[in-house]
Amino acid sequence: MVVDRVTGEPEIVILPTAESVSSAAAGRIAEALAAAGDARGAAHWATTGGSTPGPIYRELARNPLRGTVPWERVHLWWGDDRWAPPDESRSNSLAARELLLPHVPVPAAQVHAMPIGEAMATSQPPGWAAARYGEALRAAALPVDSAGFPILDVVLVGIGPDGHLFSVFPGSPTWDDPAWAQAVLAPTHIEPQVDRVTLHPRILDATRLPIAVVHGASKAAILGRIFGERRDPRGLPGQLARRTGAVWILDEAAASEIPPELRGARAG
Ligand code: 6PG
Repeated sequence: MVVDRVTGEPEIVILPTAESVSSAAAGRIAEALAAAGDARGAAHWATTGGSTPGPIYRELARNPLRGTVPWERVHLWWGDDRWAPPDESRSNSLAARELLLPHVPVPAAQVHAMPIGEAMATSQPPGWAAARYGEALRAAALPVDSAGFPILDVVLVGIGPDGHLFSVFPGSPTWDDPAWAQAVLAPTHIEPQVDRVTLHPRILDATRLPIAVVHGASKAAILGRIFGERRDPRGLPGQLARRTGAVWILDEAAASEIPPELRGARAG
């Protein structure tokens, strides 16, 4: 069993509006992709679903940011996806295919959406899609961390109202299965109530730059718990991103219950 590496505090950036949050997040992603492209010749980014990424994609798809990213070196992955056809709004890949990918030259072979449409079309179960995704990640030959998980350059996450990230819900069994991508049974406490495929939570530990983006007063209480005294990422998976080296970009409404001593904290 790997020891939980939830120590230290992330950088917390608090901005006045949802728009400023999205543009700051887009700026950080662009910077990280450019740095990874320069350093290693490839930039591996896992993105997210929910309402968070759309405005970020819009910023990245236009100048000035568009011109700062070496798109031909970018590999786009997903932290999780829902068991829904790829042209439905429930699909986590739809927003990227509509708002980002038509405007930036990421080679098609480097867009690694979870093969859920293919699985549905051929009557394969979620476990099949998860296994294919794990194989795709292995085939990318990324470096691995000391626990054996692949090191992505940047991972964008939203935080669910129950404190989940990826499709790792409170009390999730994914921690005890070493597979890099796993099928998750449809949650009953959160919408949409469909099966999911998710990356392993430890992949967030291995990530060079996790970026959590949250806005709105409805997330204030859960962020208050994530940044509370008790550290228990299995019970509150959002705490996976509460660590040195991660950045949280929040609007004031979402950040209102974070203890004052952590606001504006720098990594350390
Ligand atoms: C999912 C999403 C999920 C999302 C959060 C935050 O498939 O359920 O990936 O983890 O990121 O629920 O959602 P919002 O961005 O809408 O707040």
